[in-house]
Amino acid sequence: MKALITAGGKGTRLRPLTHTQNKHLLPICNKPTLHYALEKVAEVGIREVGIITNQEGIEVQEAIGTGDHWGVHITYIPQDAPLGLAHVVRISQDFIGGDKFVFYLGDNMIVGGISRFIDEFEKQGSNCHLTLSRVKDPERFGVPEIQGDRIVSIEEKPDKPKSAYAVAGIYLYDNSIFEAVNAIKPSARGELEISDAHQYLIDQGKKVTFSEITGWWKDTGKPEDILEANRLLLEHTEAKVNGLIDNQSLVTGNVVVEEGAQIINSVVRGPAIIGRGTVLENSYIGPFTSIGDNCRIRNSEVEFSIVLNQCTILDVGVRIENSLLGVASRVVRADSRPRSNRFMTGDQSLIEIC
Ligand code: DAU
Repeated sequence: MKALITAGGKGTRLRPLTHTQNKHLLPICNKPTLHYALEKVAEVGIREVGIITNQEGIEVQEAIGTGDHWGVHITYIPQDAPLGLAHVVRISQDFIGGDKFVFYLGDNMIVGGISRFIDEFEKQGSNCHLTLSRVKDPERFGVPEIQGDRIVSIEEKPDKPKSAYAVAGIYLYDNSIFEAVNAIKPSARGELEISDAHQYLIDQGKKVTFSEITGWWKDTGKPEDILEANRLLLEHTEAKVNGLIDNQSLVTGNVVVEEGAQIINSVVRGPAIIGRGTVLENSYIGPFTSIGDNCRIRNSEVEFSIVLNQCTILDVGVRIENSLLGVASRVVRADSRPRSNRFMTGDQSLIEIC
């Protein structure tokens, strides 16, 4: 069995962060999102992995490398334009050859492994095995219509969902999927939809089965999803202190303090992670916060947030909450007169002031 992982697409819902970085490399719990998909496929013994990249794909290749780190061999498959997930499968046919494969969307995260889904796929002798997750907003996803124990139809982002399930981005296929992706036509939004390929398989009488994801599953397409995934992963993180905590500081709950980090006269309430070389001084870091490497935080409070590498937060009078700060961002107090707020923001930034 092989694996095909996506790291292409546009990442428009995560701007401005994705103006300078591929969304699959954005860290969640201080680890690039794409690492989680690679870990899941390596864990079940898959050794041949294809990664789909967009035109700026070199960034992903440089960050991920040959796959040695996970004991897998990676083939990078460039996609000229984001023409849809069925297009991704179409252009990967040579790589897949005659094998069965896991198609894993690189921005999807689940807790637990994928072996249960592979076992079901094999046991039931399916042509296509889908994973479903119960969600509050099915209209954002591919949605199945289920009768008894069968999926009878699938619609992509329907206005009126026929169930409360999303088709999650972990799919198992045999070679029938290639007939489907080569037969379908682009949708109204101009993409070759993976849901249309699934519908094609159903219409052709192929065996399309499913498993329900019982733990959590997240599509990290939007900033709030990234913060939520960060929260869920931190909940499963164990405390580990490799950095320095001085006697004036109070660190409680599961907190990871990476090598070279210093916590000086500060309070850190876990779960939280403080990256390598980061210095916290006279500050408060609250639950569900990931602070990247080499940040400097002084006289400030941060909670339920992700702060990427090399950020500076100095003397900020209000608590920073529910926020995502891009690499090397600076949030500092200004003491100049007349008193004013000064912004130097990238395109599509969001600033909320109280
Ligand atoms: O997350 C599950 C959902 O993923 C499914 O329920 C939907 O049926 C499926 O269409 C997909 O919907 P999204 O709108 O979330 O797909 P998105 O455009 O975000 O792309 C998902 C992943 O595939 C992401 O890693 C980017 C990558 N991608 C996407 C497209 C359209 C590519 O590599 N190439 C592409 O052409």
